[in-house]
Order: sequence, then C-alpha cells, then structure tokens
Amino acid sequence: MILIHRLNFNKFQAMVRRKAIKSGAKATTVKCETERKPLIEEKGPTDLSSIHEFTKEEILFLRLSLLSWYDKNKRDLPWRQISSNDVNQSAYATWVSEIMLQQTQVATVINYYNKWMKKWPTLEALAASDIEAVNEAWSGLGYYSRGKRLFEGAKKVVTELQGQMPRTAQDLEKQLPGVGRYTAGAIASIAFGEVTGLVDGNVVRVWSRLRAIGANSTVPEVMELFWQLSHQCVDPDRPGDFNQALMELGATVCSPRQPQCGRCPVQALCRAYAKAESDKQSSVRKICTEVKSESKGKPDIVDIECLVPDCKYCPPEDSPWDKELGVLNFPRKPKKASVKQEELNVVVIQTTEEKSAAKFLICQRPEKGLLAGLWEFPSCTQQDSKTLVSQAIADSCDMEVKSLQTLKEVGEVSHMFSHVHHLYKVWLAKVAGSVVDQVTSFDGRPVRWATEHQMQEAAISTGMRKVYKEFKKSTDPQSCKRKREPDVVIKDTKKGQPSIADFFKRK
Ligand code: ADE
Repeated sequence: MILIHRLNFNKFQAMVRRKAIKSGAKATTVKCETERKPLIEEKGPTDLSSIHEFTKEEILFLRLSLLSWYDKNKRDLPWRQISSNDVNQSAYATWVSEIMLQQTQVATVINYYNKWMKKWPTLEALAASDIEAVNEAWSGLGYYSRGKRLFEGAKKVVTELQGQMPRTAQDLEKQLPGVGRYTAGAIASIAFGEVTGLVDGNVVRVWSRLRAIGANSTVPEVMELFWQLSHQCVDPDRPGDFNQALMELGATVCSPRQPQCGRCPVQALCRAYAKAESDKQSSVRKICTEVKSESKGKPDIVDIECLVPDCKYCPPEDSPWDKELGVLNFPRKPKKASVKQEELNVVVIQTTEEKSAAKFLICQRPEKGLLAGLWEFPSCTQQDSKTLVSQAIADSCDMEVKSLQTLKEVGEVSHMFSHVHHLYKVWLAKVAGSVVDQVTSFDGRPVRWATEHQMQEAAISTGMRKVYKEFKKSTDPQSCKRKREPDVVIKDTKKGQPSIADFFKRK
C-alpha cells in the first residue's frame, strides 16, 4: 500500500511521467486501467479539451489520494465491519445499509441498522418475517416503501433465486425490487468487488465541484456525465472502497454548505476551488499595487474556463458564477417544484381508563400509496368546526356522534414529506370503554385499540408520532421535555414558511 496523505499533483505528474519514460512508454501516454472514451462529443475544433473531464494522470492521482485519505479518515460504521467470508451475507448487509442510507442521515441509520441485523441477521430470516414486523422495524425512518421492497426482495432471493443474491450491478438492478442504479452499483462494488461506479447526491456534489459541472443534474444527459465520471474513475483494485471514499468525502469534507477545502485530499483537482482562489487572488491584486510574486499561492489547476461553445455541462447563462459563494457555486440547485399542501384533522380517540390501561383507536393505511400499511389516528379533511369533525369521524367509524362529545382541539403539527406538506390539526376525544367493541373499521380499513405501550411498538409513521407527542404535551407537558427524536430527513416546518395556524385561518 502506498502511504501518502496530501499528494502534490504537479509532483505526482512528474513522477508518473518519469516512471512511464523509464518503462519505455511515451511521456504522454500514462497507463490507466480504465479506458477513457471522450465524454463530450466535440463540435468544431477537436483540440478544445473539456474542463469537465479528467485526464488519465488526474484519475490516477484521484484514486491514490482519495483512497489514502479514506484509509486514515473513514468513519467507523457498523456496515463497514462486515467480516463474513460469505459474499451473499455481505451483499445482504450492504443492501440493508444502502437502502436505509437513501434519504436518511448516517447518524440515524446506525441504530436502525443494528436493530435490523439483530432481528434478521440473514436474508432467510428476513424472508420468513412479515410486512407488519418490517414496518414496525422501519417506523420512524420514513419512505416506508423502502422497507417493504427490501422484504419483497429478500423473499424473491430465497424463493426464486435459490438464496443467491445476483452478482452484478446489472442483474441486481434487473432482479431486485427497489434496487436502482445507485444501490446496484453499491452492492456490486462493495460486496462483490465489481469495478463499477455509482452516483448519489454526495457524488454529484463532489464531481460537480471538481469538474465545474453547473448544469442541472436532473437533466438525464448531465446525470449521465456524472455516471461516466464515476465509472472511469473507480479504482479497479478497490472499487467498493473507492465508491465509499467518494461518498464519504462528499458527506464529511465536500459538504453542501460548509466544505472544508483545506482538508480535501483532491483539492488540487478542484476547478471550483481553483476559480474561487483565483477570484481571491485577483481581488488581492486589485488592492495591492505591488504584486511581489505572480505565481505564489496559485492553485495547480489553472483551467477554469470552459472553451466549448454552448457547453451543456456548464452553468446556464442566467446563473453566472457568484464570487461571494466560492465553491458553493457548485452544484447549481435545480429549481424546486412547488410542494403540495394538505390539511388534515387528526383525532386522538382515547378511552377513559386510567393511564397505562387507556387505549387509543388507530387504523391501518391502505396497502398501496403513501405510508402503505402503517397505523395512524383517524383523520378527516377540511372540516374545521368541532361539529363537522365529530360528524365526519363518527360516520367513518360507524359510531354514534354523541360518543365524541368531549372532542376538543389540542394542538397543531406540521410534517414535510418530499413531495407534500401535511398540516395536522390535532383533536382529542375521550370515549367510554364500551365504544371499543362498537368500532370495527374506519372507512372500511382495519382498526386496533392500542395502549400507550403497544403504540410505541406499532408501525406508526413519524408524522403520527408527532401528533401523539402533541397530544401528550396537552395532557402532560412534563413528558415532552425529554430529549429530541433523532433527526430524519423528513423535517418540521422550515423557518419562514407559513405556520399551520396561518393555513387554518386562511380557510
Ligand atoms: N452514503 C451511502 N452509502 C454510503 C457508504 N457506504 N459510505 C459512505 N457514505 C454513504
């Protein structure tokens, strides 16, 4: 293993050239395992080199620097301690971790991953489980279809593929539900050592800064460039480590808002950094009348302007480089589609028994769609008076409306999904124990009466847990002063957005 920390790219280039000359090769033809096809079809003069590509030397430098940095700095994460000789087992563990890591932060995933692997240590154990238990284990992680597909995939491997995971990225993507191009690349490279790249949000950010790619990454052609860069750069000897290193760099150093360029092992290859530094140099030059050394402090890379006319990978003309932002100019943020708002009245129906004996009515969501199969409190839309809410809920449960006569409003909760913003007005109704036997369904869906303890174990979504917390706050304010729930990607209302009260007032 070559031990280096911060390689200097110029020295590296000279070293590679010397080696190449010694071995009889021409100085310009440095050996690189991955054959590089030009990424960009050049229109017009062919000598316009693209700043959005890597040269072979740069790829070698990137691999060496990144892997050496990763070996010293990688986080100690449970899925990186998989020591099984059974590749099928490693693939299962990688699959679980990668599915959990999509859309959810590492700190949140660790606990879920450990519990999951304890409960279902093998594919066979997971396949023998049931969707209710899977939803319970996923409760709080969000994007519940991920857990469901993982379970369906495990069943498929056990029953249709003789317990053997597909071995290539192509087959993984083709055969397993919920395994897309990214997850397939991750499992294939990490567990099976296939020399294949991957692209996730972290990788998009790293490539777009290193190669000044400012076009909208949701455009398929631009996304394809990111994939090509990943496939070209992945280290043929350590593909899994290389891919994890790239994501790790994006997560810890080349982060979205506070990148630590001073700690970056591949700073010398970064066009965004070079441009930001060149801006700084020129403003210093403007201030100082006498510049002592023109070359001092200049970055290694000077190629920061793209020479390709109408380049489809450069930032759009209406979004020029902003000097104030520096490297944060990349990636350019695609304009967000406006998020739909939905308002719901959520009713906590609780029996009047004492504390732990009291039961709550919960109903199951349909098998398909948002939060499929999870349990929730009864709700109704757009009825904002006590009379209308109790009537709507009583009708759906087939109970007498007078059973809900204690109905009162106890709070408000806001909950963001990726594509919809839910605003919950929380109501409480205390009902007699005799109501339990009367209610057998809610809008034709299965119902349960659960104690507080059973609610904690049940497959209940994060939004409904927030509702429950709001209800608890209204009845027992002390109970809510405990520590915050872990951060998941599903977030509370952001600052500056209208409050839930505003929404209900507007009606
Ligand atoms: N993000 C998703 N999967 C990852 C991994 N295996 N290592 C680092 N970051 C990741």
